[in-house]
Amino acid sequence: MNIAINGLGRIGRKVVKNIFDTSSLELIAINDIMPIDKAAYFLKYDSTYGLSNLDISYQDHFLIISGRKIVYTTYANILDLPWEKLLIDVAINCSGTNKTKPKLNEYLALGVKKVILSSPPDAEDIPIVIRGYNDDLYASSPIISNASCTTYCVAPILDIFQRNFGIAYANFTTVHCYTADQNLQDAFHTDLRRSRAAGVNIIPTTTSATNVIRRIFPALKDKVSGSSFRVPVINGSITEFIIEIDKESSNETILDRLFKESQAKYKGIIDLTHDMIVSTDVINSPLAALIDQSSIELLGNKVKLTAFYDNEAGYSHQLVQLILDGQF
Ligand SMILES: NC(=O)c1ccc[n+]([C@@H]2O[C@H](COP(=O)([O-])OP(=O)(O)OC[C@H]3O[C@@H](n4cnc5c(N)ncnc54)[C@H](O)[C@@H]3O)[C@@H](O)[C@H]2O)c1
Repeated sequence: MNIAINGLGRIGRKVVKNIFDTSSLELIAINDIMPIDKAAYFLKYDSTYGLSNLDISYQDHFLIISGRKIVYTTYANILDLPWEKLLIDVAINCSGTNKTKPKLNEYLALGVKKVILSSPPDAEDIPIVIRGYNDDLYASSPIISNASCTTYCVAPILDIFQRNFGIAYANFTTVHCYTADQNLQDAFHTDLRRSRAAGVNIIPTTTSATNVIRRIFPALKDKVSGSSFRVPVINGSITEFIIEIDKESSNETILDRLFKESQAKYKGIIDLTHDMIVSTDVINSPLAALIDQSSIELLGNKVKLTAFYDNEAGYSHQLVQLILDGQF
C-alpha cells in the first residue's frame, strides 16, 4: 500500500517511524514546506525520542530512509504536489492546515484513494474514526479524521463506562504537554493563553476533544465537558476523568470491566498499570491510554480515574494501525 505524508512535524515524523516498523506499508512521498536537509535533520535528531535508529540521508529530491528512496517536495498547496503519477493509496495530512472538506478533496483530485487527517476536521461531514469504538466508519468515506490524541484517550474509556454502567455526566481534564501551537516566549497568538511562555506556565485552555466527544457520542452531547491544562513538559500527558454512572457498582467491578475491555475490544488501544508511573514513563508508548489502576476511586456513583498517554507516539501508532486494519 503506497503512503504519502503532507506535514513532517511532530506527528508526521512519528508516523514515518511507525510506517518503517511495518512491512505492508510503503512510504513513497513526503511533503513539507521545510527544505530537504532540514527534514533529514529532524528525522534523525529528536529531543523527545533521541537519535533515530533509521538510517537517514538525502539526495536531490529524495529522502533516503534505511535504503528506501522517498520523493520529497516543499509545496504549500496540495494541488501543486506531483503526486498524480505516484499512485498513492493513502495520504496522511499532518500539516496542521488543510482541515476543510474542499482542501482535503484536493488530494482526491490528485488520484489519492484515501485521505487521513491527523486532527479533528473543520467539517461536520468528515467521519471521525477511533479504533475499537467506531472503526466501521473507516470505509464509509474517502476522507476521514483520526480525531485528536486526547479524544483517542477519552473515547475508549467513556465508551466502556457508557456500555457497562451508563453515564449521567462526565468531565475530563487533560494535563497536556506543550505543543508547537504554543509560544516559547510571550508573543502574539489568537488564543491569549496559548500566547504565553510554554516553558514556565500552567496554562488553562480548551481541548478540541470536548466537541469531538460530543459529536461522536451523540447520547452524551449534553452530559460531557472537558478542558485542558498545558504544562511545561516536552511530551507525555494525563487525563483525569470524573464520571457519574447510572448503575451502582464497586471499585472491583469497574477495574474488572476495564481490564476485560483492554484485553478484547480495546486490545492494543488501552491498557492498565498498577505501577506508580509518572508521565515520562509513557514516552514512546503506542497506547491511546494507559489507565492508572491506583487512581480508580468510587464515591457514591461518581468514579474518578486517570489515564496517561504519549500524545505523539500513541496517536501516531493508532493512526498507522487504523490504516493496517482498514486493509482487511
Ligand atoms: N503534537 C501532538 O501531540 C498532536 C497529537 C495529535 C494530533 N496533532 C495534530 O496534528 C497536526 C500536526 O501537529 P504537530 O504537533 O505535528 O505540528 P508541527 O508544527 O510539529 O508540524 C506541522 C508540520 O507541517 C508543516 N507545514 C505547515 N504548513 C504546511 C503546508 N501548507 N503544507 C505542508 N506542510 C506544512 C510544518 O513545516 C511542520 O513541519 C495538528 O493538526 C495537530 O493538532 C498533534
